[in-house]
Amino acid sequence: MNNVSLAEYEEQLEATRDRRMAWWREARFGLFVHYGLYSVLGEHEWSMVYGNYPVADYERLAERFCPKPDAPREWANLAVASGMKYLVLGTRHHEGFSLWDSKANPYNSVRLGPGRDLVRETVDACRERGLRVGLYSSLLDCHHPDAWRCAMDTAARERFLAYIRELHIELLTQYGPIDILWYDAANQKPFYHAEGWNSLALNQELRALQPDIIINNRSLLAEDFGTPEEKIKPQDRDWEACMTFNDLSWGYIDSAQAAPYTLSAQQVLRKLNAVSSAGGNLLLNIGPAPDGSVPPECAAPLAQVGAWLKDNGRAVYGSKRKLNGQPLQITPHGLCGVTAEANRIYCWNWIWPSSGERWLGGYQTPLRAVRYLRDGAPVDFEQAGDRIRLYNLPTTAPDPHAGVTVMELEFEEEPVFHRASYFPQLHAGRDFYRKGNAS
Ligand code: GLC
Repeated sequence: MNNVSLAEYEEQLEATRDRRMAWWREARFGLFVHYGLYSVLGEHEWSMVYGNYPVADYERLAERFCPKPDAPREWANLAVASGMKYLVLGTRHHEGFSLWDSKANPYNSVRLGPGRDLVRETVDACRERGLRVGLYSSLLDCHHPDAWRCAMDTAARERFLAYIRELHIELLTQYGPIDILWYDAANQKPFYHAEGWNSLALNQELRALQPDIIINNRSLLAEDFGTPEEKIKPQDRDWEACMTFNDLSWGYIDSAQAAPYTLSAQQVLRKLNAVSSAGGNLLLNIGPAPDGSVPPECAAPLAQVGAWLKDNGRAVYGSKRKLNGQPLQITPHGLCGVTAEANRIYCWNWIWPSSGERWLGGYQTPLRAVRYLRDGAPVDFEQAGDRIRLYNLPTTAPDPHAGVTVMELEFEEEPVFHRASYFPQLHAGRDFYRKGNAS
């Protein structure tokens, strides 16, 4: 792509977006990995700033940065076992330490510390395991002397932007096809806006190197997808919620202390339900330990989620119908969440009815069959008016992984749903499945 205006650039992106993003829209679930010198401190990935570390002191962390030999493979294995389809690696966080063999940035993991190219190792591990791979790159650089000067100094700005450009050219030329470029921190000093960062010219140049790449919105251009952070907030475009595992930090925190704040398998599933019912993806983060190993408090729930997805993946992967309403309130039956696809509703039972029957109110469309998603075993049902009765259910949840059993309700056609008719005024505007709402 040559340098074109923003409007033309966005038109070109739009024209290729469905093709470039088809895999991503199917994938729904990815692993974010934050690993760098900050992992050694085990406080927070912003420790350098939060603790006002002098650069020379902070640099010495590289001596203690010792990833174990197979760490990137462990991350890739974790992603696969968790049912994730892609992995996004933090290649250089705000601290400025590059995890690859960089000529532009001598402050890197090949020249210092472990003497290893962790980007290479991670890309290779992902490819081996059939994962798509994304590279996270901060535009901030607390280590580079020009980063702070350049807001006021034109020559410093030119040097700094040339450095940023070089870094990205290295990342997108040294490792074969890269699926996602995941920018961060353009909304920080020194520039705060896309013009300051020269994002339009940079992204055009990078796309010429990787024509199939998907780019997020954090160079402050709209690009391909939105990135709500630590919240599931549907957008009218492709979007991906990125979330920490513990609501504390993206980087490593001592496992024993982080454990009480850590998501359970059920909580991860709640998030997956929320994103997949609203057209989004979930990029769930781990902050590996100083030696690169996966924190055990993340590994255990993710193993459950992965086993669950093997049985119930159809409720998550692929383009689901976007439902109206707020995430996690998209639970027309209270104790179960839903995802919807063509003439099918996947009903995620958070709580299992110990009475042996469950009533679902509101569907106006004839029901053809109900079955457990995991094995296709039929569920007894009857339908009268806008009520569906599921009965002869076992007394405990059949799902062996997380106690979250999914039933597939197959209707004669795309179902129409209305809340109970005796409170029409109360539920006006909340017709989740009314035709025409699909997008
Ligand atoms: C925020 C944090 C940053 C983290 C990023 C991930 O921007 O400040 O440290 O890497 O979120 O989305």
